Amino acid sequence: LINKVYYFRSVSSTMEVAKKLAEQEKNFLVIAEKQTAGRGRLGRPWISNEGGIWMSLLIRPSISLRESFILTYLASLCVCKALRQITSLSFYLKWPNDIVFLTNDEIKKVAGILLELKAEVDKIDYAIIGIGINVNNQINSFEPTGISLKELTNRLWNRTDIIIEIMKNFYHYFQVKPEEILNEWKQLCLTLGKKVKIIRPQGELIGKALDIAEDGALWLEAENQRAVKIYSGDCIHLRV
Ligand code: BTN
Repeated sequence: LINKVYYFRSVSSTMEVAKKLAEQEKNFLVIAEKQTAGRGRLGRPWISNEGGIWMSLLIRPSISLRESFILTYLASLCVCKALRQITSLSFYLKWPNDIVFLTNDEIKKVAGILLELKAEVDKIDYAIIGIGINVNNQINSFEPTGISLKELTNRLWNRTDIIIEIMKNFYHYFQVKPEEILNEWKQLCLTLGKKVKIIRPQGELIGKALDIAEDGALWLEAENQRAVKIYSGDCIHLRV
């Protein structure tokens, strides 16, 4: 899967570092203790103090741009399962790719995935899978919807063990068919069957999350309307 691991004390973002190293290296992992300009999905900043896992996996899969959606499902599944295996706690997936924990009926985000691709026409040159996990860092003061493993369990966790478990899962799931990955993903997904609000630049939609389509879209049944496919956006679970 990879032949090198790069480790840094501090970087702007492991995504940027991976992009640079792609010029000289094939498949590798970049890990940093802290990021000064960590990024999240939808152009948001990602706070990355010491104590968390901030890493980017650069791979060169032989898939088309059309098929690349599976990578975020694959990555979030690998992280969710690794956290379950290590902590024995019930982590779940929230569409599109958050790893969450349910406390007193509140959904708290523990980890997120950011996918960046370099492609020519429909052929992928490389994919960078960014993984951010709040492990031993304190985050509750900045982010009311986020939580770290330490805050959740009142103890520290060995980050190397978690990274190894994630990489073992990647090794396994890279050999699994997309349909099977989506099936396993759906089994751990909290979003399906729920009433949600999707926030997109073009506006908001409220409806029931029905299913994940074969192309990775979320099937949403808006009130009194036919189901529509949602490809990206923010998903907020509503209380009913
Ligand atoms: C999200 O949920 O919005 C995705 C968060 C992804 C954060 C990780 S941390 C390692 C990598 N480097 C970054 O700048 N972002 C990703």
